Amino acid sequence: MPETQKECHKDMDKDDGTSGSSSEEKRAKLYMVEGVPMMTNRYVYNEKIRNYKAKADDVLVATYPKAGTTWIIEIVDCILSGGVTEKIKSQPSGSRAPFIELGQSPYSPAGVDMLDTMPSPRLVKTHLPVKLVSPSFWDNNCRIIYVARNAKDVLVSYYFFHKMNFRMPEPGSWEEFFESFLSGKVAWGSWFDHVTNWWDIRERHRVLFIFYEDLVQDTMREVERVVHFLGQTLERTTLDEIVKHTAFSNMKDNPMTNFAPLTWCIQEISPFMRKGKVGDWKNHFTVAQNERFEEEYRRRMAKTSLRFTDDF
Ligand code: A3P
Repeated sequence: MPETQKECHKDMDKDDGTSGSSSEEKRAKLYMVEGVPMMTNRYVYNEKIRNYKAKADDVLVATYPKAGTTWIIEIVDCILSGGVTEKIKSQPSGSRAPFIELGQSPYSPAGVDMLDTMPSPRLVKTHLPVKLVSPSFWDNNCRIIYVARNAKDVLVSYYFFHKMNFRMPEPGSWEEFFESFLSGKVAWGSWFDHVTNWWDIRERHRVLFIFYEDLVQDTMREVERVVHFLGQTLERTTLDEIVKHTAFSNMKDNPMTNFAPLTWCIQEISPFMRKGKVGDWKNHFTVAQNERFEEEYRRRMAKTSLRFTDDF
């Protein structure tokens, strides 16, 4: 294991969250917050995120990283705005849908501070697991859209994202990252816990559960589900326009969605809009890794009714 990754794991085990956030020039460390490795320490978390006061008309988009967050945010923002508005075409995704757990940096204010200055209805992005979401979202019965993506493609996408984004922790080699992911020692913790816990609470709260694979297979059908969930009605031409605007090739060419303006994301290492496909894991997993993954998957998913398409 390279030194940097060793440090990450050491931090996760021992850090008490008092050391603050890492410098912008260095890759992030992970802090344990209620048993979940996070890029925000638990003091910042408790003060800013846990105590966040959601409003009843806030729409929360929740995902495990790399599940298609930027995609669904673009869709939801277009729907809430009644179409592909000038604002959507001219403002970066991150300023239209602030990332609630994003800390303040020389490049941007903290997510919670951005949200405080926004008009309602606000679109809020999070990768938080259920247990770390501010209780005010549940108390206000906010609409929540959760997107889940199959674990193998998430693992691959997350690895390349760590490589290109210098504000993420050091990923180590592909083999090392593979093990970190399986054991949940990555930012936002275990994919298994994340998806199954969100799945379990979906019927007790106002949660629309969407699969990335369904979005790829039939974008219009899933867009219509979102429109219905948000209580909107849109003309067919507007729906067509939204589906076109949010197609992978268009989002890849759009500087408002492709992360290209972010200096810490090095697109030459790996573009943020990388492939946008279902089943890319087959190009990266070895046979042995797939066997190991499948064994762990069966064990961790044995008790849940959550099923991903195995159509890839
Ligand atoms: P890949 O790395 O597999 O290409 P997030 O926004 O949660 O970080 O997720 C990023 C992943 O979603 C990337 O996956 C990216 O290519 C994919 N993605 C983003 N927009 C998409 C779109 N319009 N259609 C299909 N996939 C998209």
